[in-house]
Amino acid sequence: MAYFDLSGQTAVVTGAATGIGEAIARRLAKAGARVAIADIDAGAAARVATAIGADAFPLQVDIANSESVSRAFAEALEKAGRLDILVNNAGIAGKAAPLWEQSEDGWRHVIEINLIGVFLCCRAVIDHMRERRYGRIVNIASIAGKEGNPNMTAYSASKAAVIAFTKSLGKEVALDGICVNAVAPAVVRTRILDQLTPEQIDYMCQRIPMRRTGEPEEIAAVVHFLASPDCSFVTGQCYDASGGRATY
Ligand SMILES: NC(=O)c1ccc[n+]([C@@H]2O[C@H](COP(=O)([O-])OP(=O)(O)OC[C@H]3O[C@@H](n4cnc5c(N)ncnc54)[C@H](O)[C@@H]3O)[C@@H](O)[C@H]2O)c1
Repeated sequence: MAYFDLSGQTAVVTGAATGIGEAIARRLAKAGARVAIADIDAGAAARVATAIGADAFPLQVDIANSESVSRAFAEALEKAGRLDILVNNAGIAGKAAPLWEQSEDGWRHVIEINLIGVFLCCRAVIDHMRERRYGRIVNIASIAGKEGNPNMTAYSASKAAVIAFTKSLGKEVALDGICVNAVAPAVVRTRILDQLTPEQIDYMCQRIPMRRTGEPEEIAAVVHFLASPDCSFVTGQCYDASGGRATY
């Protein structure tokens, strides 16, 4: 018997063209799911889908744009016929700087992608999942959403909101066969770190008791359980993948 088997299921993973999202997409495909590699970067999404093989297809989407999200999810549903899993992974760090050096546009941009994007993607699948009385939604938050990293006010606020959003939505669909959970990673070495200064990355690493960064595959392992039918009595929760950094 295979645990966490996803045979016959379809997953949409946003931000799957690189980093944590790519590792999640590869892991879900390996477990038997057909995976939509949903990303704003169409070329990179196509490359990852090709590398995964017949179990994956690229899906161009800007998660901050409601028209783009509606179009993309309609396309995914048409291609796959069913959507069982949504992993809201796409996100940006924004500018690493104190509040007094943040522009309104820059701040709003982070909220638009990291928070409104999660809302739009969940709204795009929720009717379908409720009708089928099955769904697994996994939102990638961050330890910054629990602790608040200095110089990352927009990012920290957006990720705290994603954790609260997860708890709210989890309760709304608790009787519909849908489980909604979040994962809060600490620092994982991906391209998102290019948006930060070395000092900012040092600050974050020093707070990890395991004294190392995480690997994208270590986040994907946690997501895999939460995306599977085995996750049947767990909803509205936030799981840390933080090398012990979180204290609650
Ligand atoms: N890497 C870390 O240290 C870390 C820590 C905690 C949480 N996270 C979270 O994990 C998630 C993935 O992070 P990562 O490190 O792999 O990032 P990354 O920058 O390596 O990849 C992000 C992906 O999202 C895509 N993307 C960006 N904006 C988009 C949009 N508007 N629509 C669709 N796709 C878009 C990018 O094209 C890219 O492929 C993010 O939500 C991030 O906040 C990362």
